Amino acid sequence: MRRKIAAGNWKMNGTSNALAELEHLTASLPANAPTVVICPPSTLLFRACETARNIAIGAQDCHMQTSGAYTGDISAEMIADSGARYVIVGHSERRDAHEETNTMVRDKAEAAWAAGLTPILCIGEALEDREADNTLNIIGGQLAGSLPSGVSAENTVIAYEPIWAIGTGKVPTLEQIIEVHDFIRTRLIARFGEDIGNAIPLLYGGSVKPDNAATIFKAENVDGALVGGASLKASDFAPIIAAL
Ligand code: G3H
Repeated sequence: MRRKIAAGNWKMNGTSNALAELEHLTASLPANAPTVVICPPSTLLFRACETARNIAIGAQDCHMQTSGAYTGDISAEMIADSGARYVIVGHSERRDAHEETNTMVRDKAEAAWAAGLTPILCIGEALEDREADNTLNIIGGQLAGSLPSGVSAENTVIAYEPIWAIGTGKVPTLEQIIEVHDFIRTRLIARFGEDIGNAIPLLYGGSVKPDNAATIFKAENVDGALVGGASLKASDFAPIIAAL
């Protein structure tokens, strides 16, 4: 049985007041809840780790170097020092707005491992790739380029996020989600073997909401979700977690 994970990415949202949502979420989780991860802005990492009891905390990005003259960046070691256990790498908003390449994402994943963090490594196609029927080529290339060797089921989580579904309210059909997740699984097995390939958790992300989560989670190779907007309020995120 693969690990089920509900991860929330708060993106650039939330000041101290948002910690109350974390408290609400902590209080609402049943004892048998799946793994829940919240990735707040880096300003809240330390306090989020103190607030969260049954919730793991993650950062939204890390630098690939451990220290140095990189103004504004934070290292995986600094993130781990806060008590966080996860870090998102390769989110499309970083690949796009910060021109992050597959190689950079791979280096960040390795930096995360070195600091004892689990990377949530994001891949996903743009609308023009989807419309050109090029989705699987893009996904295959991102997997090959950004996933380091040394992957295990314990040290890595992969999130498939079609860029056109992020924050738009547009969700792929269940068939489209199944096609991509099955493809990712096949590629993982081909590269890392049956045991590892079958055990790496695969999350779907892009406009996951309380009213569509249960349908998305029906797909055999969907092991959870990476949720943006609907993770900001405990009242929205809790039903998504419950659907898993
Ligand atoms: O990291 C999360 C994703 O970008 C999804 O965001 O749920 O607001 O569409 P969204």
